[in-house]
Amino acid sequence: DLGDYKYYMQKEIFEQPQAIRDTLESRITKNTVLLSAFGYRAKTIFKNTKHIQIIACGTSYNAGLVAKYWLEDIAKIPTNIEVASEYRYRNPIVLDNTLLITISQSGETADTLEALRSIKKRYKNIHTLTICNCAESSLTRESELILLTHAGPEISVASTKAFTTQLVSLALFSVAIGKCHKQVDKQQEASIVDGLNRLSGLIKKTLEQENKIIKLAQSFKDKFNAIFLGRGTMHAIAMEGALKLKEISYIHSEAFPAGELKHGPIALIDKDTPVIAIAPNDQLLDKLKSNLQEVKSRGSQMIVFEDEMSNVLPMKNMTVMSITHNLGRITAPIIFTIPLQLLSYHVALIKGADVDKPRNLAKSVTVE
Ligand code: M6R
Repeated sequence: DLGDYKYYMQKEIFEQPQAIRDTLESRITKNTVLLSAFGYRAKTIFKNTKHIQIIACGTSYNAGLVAKYWLEDIAKIPTNIEVASEYRYRNPIVLDNTLLITISQSGETADTLEALRSIKKRYKNIHTLTICNCAESSLTRESELILLTHAGPEISVASTKAFTTQLVSLALFSVAIGKCHKQVDKQQEASIVDGLNRLSGLIKKTLEQENKIIKLAQSFKDKFNAIFLGRGTMHAIAMEGALKLKEISYIHSEAFPAGELKHGPIALIDKDTPVIAIAPNDQLLDKLKSNLQEVKSRGSQMIVFEDEMSNVLPMKNMTVMSITHNLGRITAPIIFTIPLQLLSYHVALIKGADVDKPRNLAKSVTVE
């Protein structure tokens, strides 16, 4: 039932505060992450894990890419990530004590499932964890450990609340495994949990800025290309923003790590190619600001989603929108996803696209 919403995508974007609360429910206390959320065997498996390999597709891959940064940063465990459609067709070397993680909304994506099956066949002792939104699915049946995202049914082909709840689940996992490796102290854990507890409220506030994004979306009406920039975890969020925009508005969108611009992509930038940048208040902010200067001189329209603390000074052709205030490394990528979801939704509406059922795409890709 759509209620007052026009499309499922819009409804699902606005369901995120609740979906996140549901995903956190009974998995955290006021200041700790409960290891029991991952099942009774998790503690031993996590303690013995020396490497993590993540496999997923599309939006779920982008969530895994954020988690790679978190896992190496917080839990100090070497982590690799690969798209399942590549991983399944090569002969990857899986080191001893690797935990293989699949991430999937549906739990039925053929590439992800077949990648899991082939690795399990070749490496009989491998431990597996799936982060999945469907309790009754092939991935949950065939994985040893399961952490369900409680996003509720996602109908729109464009994944939204599944993505943010995957990120929340991966944050829980990063802390849980980090604790098993004695890399996360009580204070750090309490501060991450506090951030997670505040997420729903922060998302609500961000959603209240929808009108400003509707205005920004107008300028995409006759655009054919768009470029998304971010650094660190925001590169993964930029990729998610680009995937969303191309998927439902059919605007050719690409994401680049901002530092790569000068190695080629800057040649694409002209006045008809809007550039969307994500500017959290982190240690890479100054580097990102100089990347924006490089873009400016090409005369393109720029949209910068920033943290209030980032103080990006508006330049000619640049709109700076403060999304939020002083976010941490876990909360920031989740919150900066919201304006990108809204932007692609409103651009698609303006273009008159069938938002929930974009051309050529299926909700669950159960074929090769
Ligand atoms: O069900 P899954 O999470 O395994 O699906 C993976 C991708 O097919 C999916 O995320 C796709 O990229 C979405 N349509 C993106 O919005």
